[in-house]
Amino acid sequence: MKPQHTRTLTMRSRVRDLLATPVGRDVVDKVLLFSGAPRWVLAPVRHLRLGTIDRLTRRWTGVGTDGASLVEVVLRLATMPVREAGQAVASGPEPWWKSAVFYQIYPASFADSNGDGIGDLRGIIEHLDHLVELDVDCLWLSPIFDSPGRDQGYDIRDYRSVLAAMGTMDDLDELIDACHSRGLRIILDLVVNHTSVEHPWFQRAITDPSAPERGYYFFRDGQPDTPPNNWRSFFSGPAWTWSDEAGAWVLHLFDASQVDLDWSNPSVRDEVAAIVRFWLDRGIDGFRMDVINYISKAPGLPDGHPFVERLLEFTGIEHYFHGPQLHEHLAELRREGFTRADGSTAVMIGETPGIGVEIGRLLSGAGRGELDLVFNFDGLDTPGHTRWDDYRYDLRHLVDFWLDANVRSPDAWVALFVENHDNPRIVSKVLGSQASDPALRAQVAKLIGTIELTMRGTAFLFQGQELGAINEPFTGPDQLRDVESLNRLAGANSDDAAWTAVLAGSRDHARTPVRWTEHQDDSAAWLPGHERTPGFSVAAQRADPDSVLAWYRSLIALRHEHSALSTGDLTLIRRGGHLVVWQRSDAESTWLVEVNLGPRARRRLLRPDGQVQCSTSNQTDEHRISGWSAIITKVGPAR
Ligand code: NOJ
Ligand code: CA
Repeated sequence: MKPQHTRTLTMRSRVRDLLATPVGRDVVDKVLLFSGAPRWVLAPVRHLRLGTIDRLTRRWTGVGTDGASLVEVVLRLATMPVREAGQAVASGPEPWWKSAVFYQIYPASFADSNGDGIGDLRGIIEHLDHLVELDVDCLWLSPIFDSPGRDQGYDIRDYRSVLAAMGTMDDLDELIDACHSRGLRIILDLVVNHTSVEHPWFQRAITDPSAPERGYYFFRDGQPDTPPNNWRSFFSGPAWTWSDEAGAWVLHLFDASQVDLDWSNPSVRDEVAAIVRFWLDRGIDGFRMDVINYISKAPGLPDGHPFVERLLEFTGIEHYFHGPQLHEHLAELRREGFTRADGSTAVMIGETPGIGVEIGRLLSGAGRGELDLVFNFDGLDTPGHTRWDDYRYDLRHLVDFWLDANVRSPDAWVALFVENHDNPRIVSKVLGSQASDPALRAQVAKLIGTIELTMRGTAFLFQGQELGAINEPFTGPDQLRDVESLNRLAGANSDDAAWTAVLAGSRDHARTPVRWTEHQDDSAAWLPGHERTPGFSVAAQRADPDSVLAWYRSLIALRHEHSALSTGDLTLIRRGGHLVVWQRSDAESTWLVEVNLGPRARRRLLRPDGQVQCSTSNQTDEHRISGWSAIITKVGPAR
């Protein structure tokens, strides 16, 4: 879509004009996704004027404290000027990260080298063989910096030192070297929307009102009983806490111990760029950047609109998910932090919750000089659902989402992922209680791996995904550690409903220790794992050529051997019911990927003329494809 000249949009414009703007399109898509309404509902209203929609909906959607209706809020967002990108797209070799397979390590739960219950850097060093055998290209480590650990390291106290429980700076240097000497790259997690309250900047800011660091955060004067605005925290409760010490309110979009940095302050931006340069100098290949689209807040921090609250059960996000200076800040950080002396740039991967495909293109389009990749979360839950719902995920949504993102992003590269440390396990989402059937579990895990590793884009695996890990059968809140889950339970009215929601969506499902051996003793782990189905440890799967791990290994090898499967063209060939067939091709080879995303065997949509490279099932009738399975066929040497 060609971004249209957004400033011309007014109440006299039509819905279709709004949909032609990047932010307008994303906002409308988001409303459809959250409400579960089908896309066709837009057809009869496309030609209506926004003013008409405003008159029709104003009473129902309400007005904010500034008197603005929902349509006015959307109009404001859609007409916000966005930095023009002047850069030409550099010609030359494709950047390495486009064809890469990343592997996310959640260090506290990856491998514990000294038996204190907390995974550590030496544990990673000792298990690098697993990653080399899997043949991933780049490791991403969730935070390993010094932190009080209220949010498992996403609350940083010192950006230039390693958390003692994780190891030492020497260990980290050794890990960086060990990766590089094995042809692996390594990136870290840059958490700079906020710091821990224990960061010396914040400590100086609260003890000395005249310290420059007072301007690093959002302090607001007022009365202890009236927060400065109605924004909510992602971890329950208001986004403001009164600090007796500072005699002021302080903003935190997450836990009260994670205080937001004010990026409109140039000193904050200089500090962040210096942190990035510090780590680049130590050999890091880039960063995943935590909630990086939240760094620019609307001036004056206006109240959130009541309808957004009704829709999302959350207030204020429209004032910072795509803030006024976001693009400028990212471009500056790319220049000042991520660009090395030789002109090359370390990879910038934005964790960008709340954005859609179009804002993703503005943030990561080639030549825009901002991010390289963005994580778009719209694929993780099917329309009308959030991760707190106990529902069965339909894999058709995943395939549609990635196909659509590719079609609509000719200028931006898609990041493919189905899991991370903030989400339940995908196999459990698809199968529910049926995930207790080991054969079904392995089958679905392989199918999901096939979809991800034969799609166009950069693949991100999360530790344990390559084993077909499933959710942890937690039996009570005492088994949970995650601040988000615990706050949610603490603030709930109904214990049963809250527990059902937390059991469906808790981030702790992804955070139990990696199962290295069948009889691993996790009893001392900071978050023990109790899920013990035989055959789902690294040791067992290494020895089994039919395992999920073996399947992931062979797929990654295939993807590396044939660029068509990573960077090649992607074309939807056919679909029907649960069956989808897509093609990947480049100058060297052409492939067809057929998937059956439902439980029942079906007649194949086509019988490709070519050599079956691999298949997740041993179906003998060549006219049929088994339930939950995939067939990859090499159909030609070239396009
Ligand atoms: C996103 C991270 O992935 C999550 O784990 C964390 O709690 C929040 N950002 C806040 O840093
Ligand atoms: Ca340890």
